[in-house]
Amino acid sequence: MNQDELKAAVADAAIEEIKSQLEKDTILGIGTGSTANLFIDRLGPLRHHFKGAVASSKASAERLEKLGIEVFELNSVGTVPFYIDGADEVNTHLHMIKGGGAALTREKIVAACAERFICIADGSKYVPQLGHFPLPVEVIPMARSYVARELVALGAEPVYRQGVVTDNGNQIIDCYEFMIADPVAMEARINAIVGVVTNGLFAARGADVLLLGKEDGVERIALK
Ligand code: A5P
Repeated sequence: MNQDELKAAVADAAIEEIKSQLEKDTILGIGTGSTANLFIDRLGPLRHHFKGAVASSKASAERLEKLGIEVFELNSVGTVPFYIDGADEVNTHLHMIKGGGAALTREKIVAACAERFICIADGSKYVPQLGHFPLPVEVIPMARSYVARELVALGAEPVYRQGVVTDNGNQIIDCYEFMIADPVAMEARINAIVGVVTNGLFAARGADVLLLGKEDGVERIALK
């Protein structure tokens, strides 16, 4: 199976994971990226079985609406029973690096409001240590150079992601050559830099369930 087929397999598995728990008033939290898109496409035929969704990006909101799924503002919803999203890397503790698609801040906000985070990823994303994938950091534009200097002091090689403006009007710095020994501590450390909106480590609130697409099928890894 190629990577796209593995992503499709985990999108199918995520539908199976939640299908029996959908109710007329269920509002789902929906992530961003190519794997999340495959999941969104599979939600379309189920749209009459739940109320709607909160999206972690404008792109996902548009995709949901095109399928006839109502998109709600998070402020009017409160908590969501599930947040389903992909990852750029995920480790055995279900800590993740996310934000390859620059949607990390809204993803982290919706994830914070979710009772269960279901991560859907092809096997290439499962790593013993986070950091081969460059860690994205969303910054307030005027703070970009300052934050970059602070990231150098932490040992990273920061690179400004040229031409990218987030849904929140901010910029992205990617941290290269930055293997992460303690994701919980590093998430907090980077978030404490003035001018950082958030970083792409999802460790304080990692995933609860990982549906991992492998050659021999989808493996379900659950922490609780
Ligand atoms: C979006 O900002 C990201 O966090 C995505 O969830 C992540 O990059 C995974 O994307 P793919 O499913 O496209 O690999």
